[in-house]
Amino acid sequence: MQRLTNRQILLGITGGIAAYKSAELTRNLRAAGADVRVVMTPAATEFITPLTLQALSGNPVHLHMLDAEAEAGMGHIELARWADLILVAPATADFMARLATGQGNDLLSTLCLASDAPLCLAPAMNQAMWRDTATQHNAALLSERGVQLFGPGVGEQACGDTGPGRMLEPMEIAQRTAEQFDAGLLTGKTVFITAGPTREAIDPVRYISNHSSGKMGYALAQAAADAGATVKLISGPVNLAEPARMQRVQVDSAEQMLAASLEGIEQCDIFIAAAAVADYRPTAVAEHKMKKGKEEVMELHLVKNPDIVATVANHAQRPFTVGFAAETRDVLQYARGKLARKKLDLIIANDVSRSDIGFNSDQNAVTVISAEQELELPCTPKRQLASQLIRLIADQYHSQ
Ligand code: C5P
Repeated sequence: MQRLTNRQILLGITGGIAAYKSAELTRNLRAAGADVRVVMTPAATEFITPLTLQALSGNPVHLHMLDAEAEAGMGHIELARWADLILVAPATADFMARLATGQGNDLLSTLCLASDAPLCLAPAMNQAMWRDTATQHNAALLSERGVQLFGPGVGEQACGDTGPGRMLEPMEIAQRTAEQFDAGLLTGKTVFITAGPTREAIDPVRYISNHSSGKMGYALAQAAADAGATVKLISGPVNLAEPARMQRVQVDSAEQMLAASLEGIEQCDIFIAAAAVADYRPTAVAEHKMKKGKEEVMELHLVKNPDIVATVANHAQRPFTVGFAAETRDVLQYARGKLARKKLDLIIANDVSRSDIGFNSDQNAVTVISAEQELELPCTPKRQLASQLIRLIADQYHSQ
């Protein structure tokens, strides 16, 4: 079931009595880490309310094709592209027939036509309807086209008959859905990533900060989520949109970043410190805006901030810990020193004196250093570099 972490599942519900089990199925899929969006046919809403599915999926339920409000939110083509997999459970005989003939006469059938995502059906119907030649023909046709059929099971039916046509139990459907995905490099692992700058308040309107854009940390978080990890992104103030498939915790100061990093650290497998944390903060934050005085020189007293990555690396239940070293000279030498001093497993060194890479740029070139080896990665767009780094980090983590 770990293969469902971060997967985007579009759950279609059609009008059969087994629709009541789709509530449980939604819970099972979510518990396994999937993001679930439910689409219901009009007949399905006669068996179970959209409100129930909305509460259980944590997302609005999609009902109509020609709904201007829904189209303004996530339109049907966007929804079709969003899905990593479409699962229709229960799938009625009527829905299978419409699918087999390529009809798009409601939202769900249209989505099935418009999406390239794999399609799985959990048929549920009376045993005579399942045995009917037309249904058998449709089932065979859909299988030939690569549609996966989960079941149906054999047994007692709601109508009192016994035979084939029962929808499989929700847990088995969730399991079969999980099996449709390959295991990612970080499937089942929890990764915390710090990103962006911190802001250290001087008074209510002023602060000390730096030029970090957060792009590298955000790209790493995305790559870790793509690799199947459960990601917590602990972000300082940046101008970047909230990435999908992860939890983002927004912080301002280094102290807040430390608290957010330590919360749940026992569950963290890999910690990546990509944030540019301010080394010092003002000893005290003035309660009111500080006024300009007569003196030409003003003194600001600073106190050292906690070292977040070193605190994590020294934790009793320490995760595999990765730091960054942004340097302007003697890059590798400083980075090696930090690797040892902060007790890191890996450090990623980059030269921020170069204007073409580093802080605000979209590209970066780095050297990955562990106690045993050093590996140079040439100048690459940050998103591509992030995937390479996550692969390297995962390899090192697994080889420990
Ligand atoms: O010591 P320096 O700031 O150069 O170390 C850089 C590495 O340490 C980065 O991974 C950065 O995110 C992390 N760091 C931290 N907390 C600090 C200072 C740096 O986690 N207070």
